[in-house]
Amino acid sequence: MLEPLQIRAHFPALSRTFSGKPFVYFDGPGGTQVTQSCIDGMTHYLTQCNANHGGAFVSAVESDAIVEEAHTAMADFLNARLSSEVFFGQNMTSLTFAFSRAIGKTLNPGDEIIITHLDHDANFSPWRLMAEDRGVKVNVVTVNPADCTLNMSDFTRMLNTNTKLVAFGYASNAVGTINPVKEITRMARSVGALTYIDAVHYAPHGPIDVQDIGCDFLACSPYKFFAPHLGAIYARQDLLESLTAYKVRPADNHAPWKWETGTQSHESLAGLVGTMKYLEWLGETYGQASGHFRSDRSTILHAAMNAIQSHEAVLKVRMLDGLMALPRTRLYGITDHGRLDQRVPTFAIRMEHHTPLQIAQYLAERAIAVWSGNYYALNLTEQLGVEDSGGMVRIGLAHYNTAEEVDRLLNDLSEL
Ligand SMILES: Cc1ncc(COP(=O)(O)O)c(C=O)c1O
Repeated sequence: MLEPLQIRAHFPALSRTFSGKPFVYFDGPGGTQVTQSCIDGMTHYLTQCNANHGGAFVSAVESDAIVEEAHTAMADFLNARLSSEVFFGQNMTSLTFAFSRAIGKTLNPGDEIIITHLDHDANFSPWRLMAEDRGVKVNVVTVNPADCTLNMSDFTRMLNTNTKLVAFGYASNAVGTINPVKEITRMARSVGALTYIDAVHYAPHGPIDVQDIGCDFLACSPYKFFAPHLGAIYARQDLLESLTAYKVRPADNHAPWKWETGTQSHESLAGLVGTMKYLEWLGETYGQASGHFRSDRSTILHAAMNAIQSHEAVLKVRMLDGLMALPRTRLYGITDHGRLDQRVPTFAIRMEHHTPLQIAQYLAERAIAVWSGNYYALNLTEQLGVEDSGGMVRIGLAHYNTAEEVDRLLNDLSEL
């Protein structure tokens, strides 16, 4: 187990109070708090080497080195084969819209894609709109309402030799379900389809190894794993080189630069490098690595994420059991103790007599941050029949949360 005091000391925001109480952050699925090393990285960048790309002078040279380091660190985090297989942008949504246009250029009428109802809309609408533009058929995998898992028989039925792309999530940002990503990727590949995985919600909770998964593309957002507001995409090198990027002419013609349109948020990339230093410390202090990784840092980062996963497994059971014991409360998603490795510690609930927003406001007054609504998992809230009545309350744990915080939330909810 991680030592909470030692972990929390790295996150300055966690010492915040509100109304005389320590503030509790269960809002991680909307964005996590950042480490001191992230803040230091940004401060260093902005005070010492704030410059645009490609200059001959010292601050620009140092700036370029930090940007390069961010790519290498992100490749280590995902265990990409090459650092040029990673590129950054404003956020996952913008990157996916841009990238869907590049992939769409290779598709024609008669081609098909598969997307899912379990996904955040950022991995749904870009593909649907692209398909509309290109005359491509869209197949949508539904969700099993009982446990909020993907309907795999839908997927098997829809997959055929016309399928050119399968876009799906690693984990649901609403109900926490972890999808069988390796199996879906293997099946997609068997018909020659490309795979685009939205790992935004999964990334703070466990290790990601794109080589082991065998996917073609994987998107995530560093601001969901203790770094600044950024989006990142991994893509296979040959695809990054062969696909046409919509770019300005003077920009570099090679990956990853051809995909990074305009000036990036260099200070955020510097912050990401700082966050990776924290994760390295965590991996060295608590982690155990297994598997083959591209570098020593990659091995340590995967050890860190294994340690986070084990730590969260304990908090997950405490929160789950507590929520299940609350009267007049419905918890969505996997609840079976034997299957908890198929969910991350993100819990969606509804309680009788109170709307999700009322519950979020009640907790907010008690210095506890949770989200309510659909959190852009619109297809899911519609399929579950809760969209018109305020969606669900989402309680999202991160590794910096504690058992005491879980108990505080459960106690407040039981008083409600
Ligand atoms: C699962 C998932 N996918 C995509 C997104 C969109 O990410 P971004 O805010 O980086 O565009 C989110 C954001 O909440 C998310 O949770």
